[in-house]
Amino acid sequence: MVSLTKIITACSLLGCSVNALSIVSSLRPYLSQALDSWGSESSDSKLNPEIILTFPGEDDKPVPGDSGIVQCQILEDQILSLESVEIAPNPPIRGENLTFVAKGTLSKDIVDGAYAEVDVRYGFIKLLHETYDVCEEITKVDLECPIESGKQVITKTVEIPYEVPPGHYVVNVKAYTKDDELITCLTATVDFPPN
Ligand SMILES: *[C@@H]1O[C@H](CO)[C@@H](O)[C@H](O)[C@H]1NC(C)=O
Repeated sequence: MVSLTKIITACSLLGCSVNALSIVSSLRPYLSQALDSWGSESSDSKLNPEIILTFPGEDDKPVPGDSGIVQCQILEDQILSLESVEIAPNPPIRGENLTFVAKGTLSKDIVDGAYAEVDVRYGFIKLLHETYDVCEEITKVDLECPIESGKQVITKTVEIPYEVPPGHYVVNVKAYTKDDELITCLTATVDFPPN
């Protein structure tokens, strides 16, 4: 059991990423449609494969720790400053629990109305684009808005469903306050080998 003192938005955001991954299994039908519609014309843009380049840019910076998470858009002010993110096991294993510990500092309180845009790509295919209510999501890690500014440490364990299709995933999370101030921009890359 983890003792969990304070939790930050990053937690919910990372939770978001992982939740996004865990719903990947429920997206299998979309995934096969996306694969089927490769090269064919579809009026539903959600199912249109989209090639996205993933080279790190000059506004990307690795977050210290072993998670492989990268902070993006660092040329823009961000309310959350992440000191480190550690994950175990590393790399994550399908069908097993994943625990992460995130340390960071918020320069402002996070209040109702904050939202996160989450993109999940599977290989080169855009699998999911979803907007989440940050204050609603953080209740899943026993937190409540407002989240006070200052230094925060969060620990969270999530189970990664075995049904997640093996492959290369890129999860991008951009969180904003209700006034559209950037809280954080994070990109996580996860490879699940076939097993
Ligand atoms: C993951 O952790 C939960 C809670 O500690 C536990 O009930 C569950 O059995 C664990 N799952 C695996 C696959 O280890």
